[in-house]
Amino acid sequence: MAKQAGGQIDTVMQESRVFPPPSEFAERAQIGSMAAYEKMWREAAADIERFWGSLAGELHWFRPFEKVLEWHEPDANWFVGGQTNISYNCLDAHLTTWRKNKAALIWEGEPGDSRTFTYQQLHHEVCKFANVLKKLGVQQGDVVSIYMPMVPELAIAMLACARLGAIHSVIFAGFSAEAIADRNNDAGAKVQLTADYGWRRGQELPLKKNVDEALDKSPTVKHCVVLKRTGNPVHMQEGRDHWWHDLTAQAPNDCAAESLDSETPLFILYTSGSTGKPKGIKHTAAGYNLFVKKTFEWVFDYRDEDIFWCTADIGWVTGHSYCVYGPLSAGATMLLYEGAPNWPDEGRFWQLIEKYRVNIFYTAPTAIRAFIKWGDAWVDRHDISSLRLLGTVGEGINPEAWMWYHRKIGRERCPIVDTWWQTETGGIMMSPLPGAIPTKPGSCTKPIPGIIPAIVDSSGKPVPPGQGGWLVITKPWPGMLRGIWGDQDRYREQYWSKVPHSYLAGDNARCDADGYYWIMGRIDDVLNVAGHRLSTIEIESALVSHPQVAEAAAVGRPDEIKGEAVAVFVTLKNGEPTDALRKELKAHVRKEIGALAQPDDIRFTGALPKTRSGKIMRRLLKDIASGKATVGDTTTLEDYSILAKLRSEEE
Ligand code: WTA
Repeated sequence: MAKQAGGQIDTVMQESRVFPPPSEFAERAQIGSMAAYEKMWREAAADIERFWGSLAGELHWFRPFEKVLEWHEPDANWFVGGQTNISYNCLDAHLTTWRKNKAALIWEGEPGDSRTFTYQQLHHEVCKFANVLKKLGVQQGDVVSIYMPMVPELAIAMLACARLGAIHSVIFAGFSAEAIADRNNDAGAKVQLTADYGWRRGQELPLKKNVDEALDKSPTVKHCVVLKRTGNPVHMQEGRDHWWHDLTAQAPNDCAAESLDSETPLFILYTSGSTGKPKGIKHTAAGYNLFVKKTFEWVFDYRDEDIFWCTADIGWVTGHSYCVYGPLSAGATMLLYEGAPNWPDEGRFWQLIEKYRVNIFYTAPTAIRAFIKWGDAWVDRHDISSLRLLGTVGEGINPEAWMWYHRKIGRERCPIVDTWWQTETGGIMMSPLPGAIPTKPGSCTKPIPGIIPAIVDSSGKPVPPGQGGWLVITKPWPGMLRGIWGDQDRYREQYWSKVPHSYLAGDNARCDADGYYWIMGRIDDVLNVAGHRLSTIEIESALVSHPQVAEAAAVGRPDEIKGEAVAVFVTLKNGEPTDALRKELKAHVRKEIGALAQPDDIRFTGALPKTRSGKIMRRLLKDIASGKATVGDTTTLEDYSILAKLRSEEE
């Protein structure tokens, strides 16, 4: 293996399995062959404006746009001069069709309660709540902060904001009061929406209490609307706090969707930056609307009779795009589940799939690794034969986890769509189109039509096939972020300044000889061992392929001789953490990918620190591995106690 120049990354992973789309699937698919996909991709790449412009006719326009794109790097204006409304496209547009009485949203609460909303009913609720917001003085451009459990009212609130042209900022219901206040202040939020409590593993999360604390430090918030979810008492502050049911009972039924300029801001979603303060990623209405609709239809090959279930929380971008806006713009039926996957037992997801006959299931690798750890028996208790398509998002999926998903959940007949995208990209950027593109475990395969990626070195030059480098997107796309809230300089600096005329995703990737993309991890996570730049996912995947390993995280720590030594954190499916196992795992990695990547330290741990959306926080592990104090933003940590525990478990 040659020593590489800066920006390039060595690959050590060999994965040669290929799974073509099953013929029964391809025959009925919207895009049913590689040739059809390639033709579509080539035509789109040749003229992206024509491509997106012709698709935009699928949205309802109060006023037609004059120009598809005005691009003054890095500022994009899509569908210039047009007026539309995403709430209209998600609801009203279906009311003049047979879908009016179709189930839009089927919801199940953690305790097992359930509610279903047809498009007509959802429209009714959204109109009423939009009137509630109006009554509280919410106007176009105002920011509404939403801190709620996964209940239908969360989606209703988002659609109500969009209806008026107000901007929602959804804050995941697991965040602390501090995190809510930071986000409220950064966004200048005017109204807060919350619930009394939320259910999580049978416990009540004190949402209103957190909000009370946050609002003491959020001077811009004048009103707070509280949904009664569990019914236990909460403090209500006279004049500021209102019950959701009181306000909606008084609200008129009709509320026309505002005719809004294409570039009207739709939402802010905070995501943690690698340094310090979380950044508010800003998305605007029309381009995002079109992008999530089309990616939803293409990637999930959605058919009207399907039930689609995305397990992501609406508090992160996957929930925004594929629990709310994508499926509803496409007129789909989706399942929304409030609670934990292991409540009342580890079979809950499979029980839900059986009960609602779910056809398309979209989840995260962290969940898949948990299912594997919990054991196959939980799956075997349920009839999950309704499934026809599976998806993953959020992290790379280790090939062994992919194989389990394929065999155990997909019964070797459901294609798997491994979807690569980001909060910043608004929707799916690379993924198999399931009827067209053969899959390879661990690869997100190919770009969506209209998306033109490249892999470059740190000077911006494309690297040869097979070589790892920085992943960039070379042309604007309608779902792209329009900036960082209140900080356009940071937007330009972070995404558009390092590689000329390209969007820098912040991930490393390689493209193989077949044009398949393999995400190798975040740029900051690269390990530099004796002059070789190694990616985290490859070492982790080698470890996960050992029968006793459930999860693994690989990080670098300073080493005088090698530059960096490889430290790994491992959780086990079974067996005891012993020195013998440690030796065995080292030998296993050496055998799978070579001596170069053999871990220097192996630490066993009960759990890995993760972000709220389930990503392993390698940055923190790196500090632990090198004995440094924890720095930077940790508000997205799933469980602070894991950090302390890891420290005490040090060798
Ligand atoms: C990672 C989630 C590998 C990646 C939609 C990206 C992935 C970051 C994949 C964005 C995937 C997401 N394979 N890595 N299929 N999907 N990532 O903003 O590092 O929460 O940059 O958006 O997750 O995470 P975010």
